[in-house]
Amino acid sequence: MKNFFISDIDNITPGKEVHVKGWAQDIRLMKNIAFIIVRDSTGLVQATVKRDCPDFHKLETLSRESVVEITGTVPEKVQSNIGREILVTSVELINMAEVPLPIGITDNVETDMDTRFNSRFLDLRKPEIGRIFQAKSAILWGIRNFLMSQGFTEVQTPKTVSAATEGGAELFHVKYFEKNIFLNQSPQLYKEMLVASGVERVFEVGPAFRAEEHNTPRHLNEFTSIDIEMGFADHHDAMHMLENAIAKGISNFLENVRDASSFSVVKEKPVTPFPRVSYLECIKILKGEGYPAVHGEDLNNEALKIIGKKFDGFYFITDWPTSVRPFYTALLDNNPEYTKSYDLQFREIEITSGAQRVHNPAELKRRIEDKGLDSDDFEFYLRTFKYGMPPHAGWGLGLERLVQVILGLPNIREASLFPRDRNRVFP
Ligand code: 4AD
Ligand code: MG
Repeated sequence: MKNFFISDIDNITPGKEVHVKGWAQDIRLMKNIAFIIVRDSTGLVQATVKRDCPDFHKLETLSRESVVEITGTVPEKVQSNIGREILVTSVELINMAEVPLPIGITDNVETDMDTRFNSRFLDLRKPEIGRIFQAKSAILWGIRNFLMSQGFTEVQTPKTVSAATEGGAELFHVKYFEKNIFLNQSPQLYKEMLVASGVERVFEVGPAFRAEEHNTPRHLNEFTSIDIEMGFADHHDAMHMLENAIAKGISNFLENVRDASSFSVVKEKPVTPFPRVSYLECIKILKGEGYPAVHGEDLNNEALKIIGKKFDGFYFITDWPTSVRPFYTALLDNNPEYTKSYDLQFREIEITSGAQRVHNPAELKRRIEDKGLDSDDFEFYLRTFKYGMPPHAGWGLGLERLVQVILGLPNIREASLFPRDRNRVFP
């Protein structure tokens, strides 16, 4: 096992021998000296090879991106502008890379997204691409830690299901032996059922599937959903959990990923609580700006752009109309035309949807039927409400969307290792 990484060179006393294993990113061969830039997951080092090194001849056939093991010593005075150097005593070629490479790793040529994703394993070797996933991991880790600290239990629920939760249009149909079933759009029903099971505070990080017809820079057909559900809680409690989870995700990223703020749009832990603006206030803002907002309808991209300009960064839009929210959303106590729901926005982009849920079984059944759905399909879910269901609330947060806005990525696909869209189910 490799247990010495390139960044460990920074702590080595000059003169000491080191073994560096990684990829030969670049090779410059001159008459009496050669330079190999070696890369591993922690950084770069320049390997300086003099003609009198017995392995000098090996460099004549060494191709870029081959895997090498290099032995050498750390010099007293580093000559390389990379900031790390070793003076090479031996070079071992572990596995040669074919020539030419399908895409360049360091070349300054713009490769289109399709070509990049076709060779995603190579694309990910680019440091500016690889670090997106270090950021994603650190953000998720911060959120997960926070939820654990608040007494949440992480769960895993089925992804092959027989009922839709978020509306019928975006469902993938799957042949499941003799039956036709769906890929789950959201763990919504299951996390609520687990509240009824007495878990009280549950969260899941897992794939969610949406048959999005159109290719947009914000939609994937398979994304990572971070979902929570909490018993004996309302929508305000859930919003409070959300803003703190996001703040922890961001601070974990900023504190633990090297040079995080240099490639992130969000450069500081966001201030909590995030601003809250109601749907009705949004309509007022839009009308004030001369935008033809239709009361009772969803806010489209253009409308959200106008609202997003009023807030810097994260903010909540609350109390959405009943007509645009799913059947499980609780209604406002004093006005059933509006719901105890919210979206978390970053500028015009929706990051999270959440709400307090209906916990009365008769009301829930009615709401399912009001949406034109067959309540028999939901019997497995409805029956959990009949034997002691607490009031509860939660949210679903799209991890790739969150990474997209924190890093300012132009396209959500950049935040997915192997993105899935209408045209791409490969690699
Ligand atoms: O807004 P959505 O559809 O809400 C739900 O799934 C609810 N069950 C959540 C709840 O607890 N009430 O999806 C939640 C989030 C969105 O805000 C967005 O960030 C992300 O999931 N999302 C997508 N991300 C990428 N591609 C897609 N096609 C997405 N659809 C939703
Ligand atoms: Mg939503």
